[in-house]
Amino acid sequence: MAEIATLNINGKSYELPIIEGTENEKAIDISKLRSETGLITIDPGFKNTGSTKSSITFLDGEKGILSYRGYPIDQLAEKSTFLEVSYLIIYGELPTEEQLADFTRRVQRRSLVHEDIKKILHSFPSNAHPMGVLSSLVTSFTAFYPGSLDPNRSAEAVDLSIVRILAKFPTLAAWTYNNQIGRQANYPDNRLDYIANFIKMMFAVPSEEYKVDPVVADALNKLLILHAEHEQNCSTSTVRLVGSSHASLYSSISAGISALWGPLHGGANQAVIEMLENIRKDGGGSKKYLEKAKDKNDPFRLMGFGHRVYKNFDPRAKIIKKAAHGVLKKLGVQDPVLEIASELEKAALEDQYFVDRKLYPNVDFYSGVIYRALGIPTEMFTVMFAMGRLPGWIAQWKEMRENNEPIGRPRQIYTGYNTRDYVEPSKR
Ligand code: SDX
Repeated sequence: MAEIATLNINGKSYELPIIEGTENEKAIDISKLRSETGLITIDPGFKNTGSTKSSITFLDGEKGILSYRGYPIDQLAEKSTFLEVSYLIIYGELPTEEQLADFTRRVQRRSLVHEDIKKILHSFPSNAHPMGVLSSLVTSFTAFYPGSLDPNRSAEAVDLSIVRILAKFPTLAAWTYNNQIGRQANYPDNRLDYIANFIKMMFAVPSEEYKVDPVVADALNKLLILHAEHEQNCSTSTVRLVGSSHASLYSSISAGISALWGPLHGGANQAVIEMLENIRKDGGGSKKYLEKAKDKNDPFRLMGFGHRVYKNFDPRAKIIKKAAHGVLKKLGVQDPVLEIASELEKAALEDQYFVDRKLYPNVDFYSGVIYRALGIPTEMFTVMFAMGRLPGWIAQWKEMRENNEPIGRPRQIYTGYNTRDYVEPSKR
């Protein structure tokens, strides 16, 4: 028998159904609350509010569990490839060998970007932040691929839009970097796999032979898998909200890129390295910065620490921390900020302020150390997060559209002036 919640308002009782998910999570369904009671709920930041039901990702913040379509993140990071995980997240099942080969072929043959998009790219000043450039270039896809505008056009049209953005995003990202450093755009080399192709487009110097380092490719493959999906986070909720108005996939993803850019969200990986660099320049002591992070009058936060859902270790952070030490060793890179990060982590995990608030390292705390060791510039760190999160945004947008979810339109409690009459300018 379905459980119910009984709400008592001024002596009157209301029964609200309780729904339960496949991992025994429960929620009070308040979809009829206002029509029955005249009241709404309010929950700034949606800390206690579910926006949807989804079958894509399960995470348990208390136990530090994360799985995509039921497969644990550590197994996927260890055994799978980013393109295979993208297929799993978007289409719901691990592909057969034939399905993966076909998907890989379809993505590879669409890795080129319309030459006119380069004109838009070159109109940006070289110091433009890559996230702003990418958000604009993805929006420009609505002009170059008008067939993508109508999300209700057909399943085939939606799938073509999905394959196009998956295929072209690495090219856009690499071209954005090429443009930033004043280098001509490197074109895709479809003899390479998805990750190697991106690395070569990023770093190849024209007229020189470029060999992709397998250590770099393996590290990037793992990082992109770890960033691929994370249920209703800020940027994914943005993609869903924009898509709920029946805006196109590309408009929705462009909005997601902008939301991810914020330093409290995906922009944290850039902010972590900048913070660690500042600590290094300031003598490397973590104590002063822990005190600053605890001081309510100081806006400084320990970037890469804390999480809305994980009140235990972010399982991705554990994998990335281990990978960071391994990658730097294999590449023979000595990076002082890695030691500072480890010290800072140790000190924070022993500090009552952080313990009381269950603040642990999150996915962004160590990822920047690896990106830096791979030669990826700091301003491109969040672009790497966006490239990783692309399949997640696509899958969540697709699920929301296929479930025919209503347009998102939250309510509010008004706290402004009560009704008052207009006053002529001469009498104000
Ligand atoms: C991502 O949601 C996702 O899934 C996101 C993500 C994904 O994969 O999509 O996992 C990716 O965005 C990871 C988070 C990256 N951001 C950062 O590392 C920025 C630093 N962290 C914070 O700003 C913060 O922890 C958040 C934004 C991540 C979470 O903020 P919440 O849940 O709104 O928590 P809060 O701000 O209400 O903090 C609770 C308490 C407060 O203290 P009190 O008011 O109770 O005294 O903890 C404190 C905060 O001041 N606090 C911190 C802190 N994070 C929280 N204090 C110092 N340093 C921090 N980093």
